[in-house]
Amino acid sequence: MRILIVGIGALGGTIAARALNAGVDVCLATRTEASAKILRAGLKVSGVGGEARAVPPRVAVIEDYESREKFDLILLATKAHDALESAPALTHLLTPRGLLWPIQNGVVAQMLAARFGRGRVVGGLSNLGATMVEPGVYEQRNAGHLLIGELAGGPSERVESIAQALKGAIDVRTTANLRGAIWAKLLLNCSVTTIGAMAGRTMRQYLILPGGGEVFRRAYDEALAVALGTGTQPERMIVDPMPPGWKERRTTGKDYDGWINQILGVYGDLKPSMLQDFERVRRTEIDFINGYVAQLGADHALPVSMNAAITRMVHAIENGAVHPNPARLVELIGNGG
Ligand SMILES: NC(=O)c1ccc[n+]([C@@H]2O[C@H](COP(=O)([O-])OP(=O)(O)OC[C@H]3O[C@@H](n4cnc5c(N)ncnc54)[C@H](OP(=O)(O)O)[C@@H]3O)[C@@H](O)[C@H]2O)c1
Repeated sequence: MRILIVGIGALGGTIAARALNAGVDVCLATRTEASAKILRAGLKVSGVGGEARAVPPRVAVIEDYESREKFDLILLATKAHDALESAPALTHLLTPRGLLWPIQNGVVAQMLAARFGRGRVVGGLSNLGATMVEPGVYEQRNAGHLLIGELAGGPSERVESIAQALKGAIDVRTTANLRGAIWAKLLLNCSVTTIGAMAGRTMRQYLILPGGGEVFRRAYDEALAVALGTGTQPERMIVDPMPPGWKERRTTGKDYDGWINQILGVYGDLKPSMLQDFERVRRTEIDFINGYVAQLGADHALPVSMNAAITRMVHAIENGAVHPNPARLVELIGNGG
């Protein structure tokens, strides 16, 4: 299987280094020629999973790949907006049965499938955590895996063959309920990551701040109601996506607190990745996370005022109108959330 990885940042670089080191046929696409030049000298990954080094056979910007250089799989490891923007320039590089495989948080795969058809796209997400120390040097932060599945659900030979092709390089798991897995992660991105980023705190820290618990509960419950109301049953990942008391519409009490503690045990002390985007003055993926939930809920006449307020506030932080601060939590409740 001939693979092109597009976006050699934290995740793409880690996957590329491990795949090349394991002897997989992988080429790389960067956004700039300056990045490509650095990577031609080689990639190194360390951290969980051990050290691996590799020199890629071909690194170039997308535009420098020619139509005759065909790939069976194009793994999109850019941010969500860049994946959507770059995809039209990539489809001519696919073999007749070649596939795009986005692994961003949120619903990039569904958006690409709406544009290019489900025959051209498989869905995915990453539970693998990675950081980029500098271009060409990456650190794997956990023993996580990549997930792959059909957007229509069910088993599939083509996703099995992709998992098989990367065996020995990266832990790739298949799922028959990809939409459910994407939503399970989306629920936590909407609550743990985004709210923490706005408050400038980890989840454990923001939950004890004024408004923290309420904003979490309302953002999570709205997003879960949108998933269920639009026909998706979120899949259990590490923590049950259904909070105790959900069926009785009463997500409070001792069992609920125990469920929150389970989430805290896994995600409570992580610095939100969106907070890093704020600090680096980079565009966030909010429109693919809370913004997507707010739009989908509105389209189906479901209440999404907290997710809509969160989306507006993240854009205000991106624009520099306000800054991440614990005060944002109380403001969210007061500002129509
Ligand atoms: N890192 C993690 O641990 C992790 C875990 C789970 C999910 N994710 C998701 O995975 C995605 C990637 O995350 P990341 O942390 O790896 O981001 P990242 O470090 O910012 O890497 C993205 C890379 O894509 C490149 N890029 C942007 N546009 C491109 C284009 N048109 N052609 C080629 N390359 C392009 C960027 O280059 P420039 O820097 O030159 O713009 C950058 O190197 C995000 O959706 C994120 O939410 C990440």
